[in-house]
Amino acid sequence: MNLPGQVKLVEVGARDGLQNEKQPVPASVKIELVQRLQDAGLTHIEAASFVSPRWVPQMADNAQVMAGIRRKPGVRYSVLTPNLQGLEAALAPARALWPDEIVVFGSASEAFSQRNINCSIAESIDRFRPVVAAALAQGIAVRGTISCAVGCPYEGEIAPERVEEVARLMKEIGVQQVGVADTIGVGTPFKVQRALEAALKAYDLGDVSGHFHDTYGQALANTLASLQLGVRQFDTSVAGLGGCPYAKGATGNVATEDVVYLLHGMGIDTGIDLDKLIDAGKFISDFFGRPPHSRAATALLNKRND
Ligand code: HMG
Ligand code: MG
Repeated sequence: MNLPGQVKLVEVGARDGLQNEKQPVPASVKIELVQRLQDAGLTHIEAASFVSPRWVPQMADNAQVMAGIRRKPGVRYSVLTPNLQGLEAALAPARALWPDEIVVFGSASEAFSQRNINCSIAESIDRFRPVVAAALAQGIAVRGTISCAVGCPYEGEIAPERVEEVARLMKEIGVQQVGVADTIGVGTPFKVQRALEAALKAYDLGDVSGHFHDTYGQALANTLASLQLGVRQFDTSVAGLGGCPYAKGATGNVATEDVVYLLHGMGIDTGIDLDKLIDAGKFISDFFGRPPHSRAATALLNKRND
């Protein structure tokens, strides 16, 4: 099997993870989480999203979070920006506080696009176009994600052709990398491979990533299936935090700890210190007063207590 020797994990716990939490999380806790994650060796961190605070109240302190992080050289900090208003807010402070990368988030499902960002797929691309152009003009990297790339809570199964279509549209407007997102975690390995292959018709292998929620416990299998295609970037969430507020019942992303355990066990390098990562996951789980949603973290924490 020809697996990549090195994999990059994009830590989305502070964004995808926390956005779904009902309990308000103070900016200071979010900042400490991000810092613990960078200390654990994560080099790409989604720290916040610049969306409507009415839609996602948990992300309302986005600017405070971005201003509070003591940035570590070599780490790429990303934020979600669904429209120009979001980009302008992200770029309002001094350049040192700007994100290194913005993420525009579209969908392969019309119904989900409407529920999540209040517009059709075609309208979303029209909204993203000036956002992407403005970000690139400022030297900011641009990634896109395609939600519901395998299944949708409103439309059911999604054909790979629809993923290909959105990937091509994103490519056309200048989005540099694209993530194939199984928003509600219904995907199984062959379906996920088909969705990734669809995105690969528009993007090079190094520019396609996987974003797997673990609702049905398939995310690790889907990660391995992606590795088999040569995909070498994944979004993961420490302590398995998260879900999407507009995808009812969807649980968190696959836990970063579990993916790191999987990759290191297969001899694939991530640059991440699993022990420090587990501490970061314990920090945020303790804040919520619950154990981490990670099998590897649970097992290793139990072992520490032996
Ligand atoms: P809209 O209502 O169509 O926007 O929302 P609008 O332009 O008509 O503006 C309406 C109001 O929103 C105005 O405020 C604007 O100022 C405000 P009002 O005058 O009523 O007080 N507004 C904003 N405020 C702050 N920042 C902004 C912004 N834009 C407008 N950027 C919008 C469109 C996209 C803003 C809205 O639908 C929204 O915020 N949706 C939230 C979507 C979201 O955050 N979802 C979760 C993240 S995506 C995800 O988790 C999936 C992913 O993980 C991959 C996967 O798993 O599938 C990435
Ligand atoms: Mg997600």
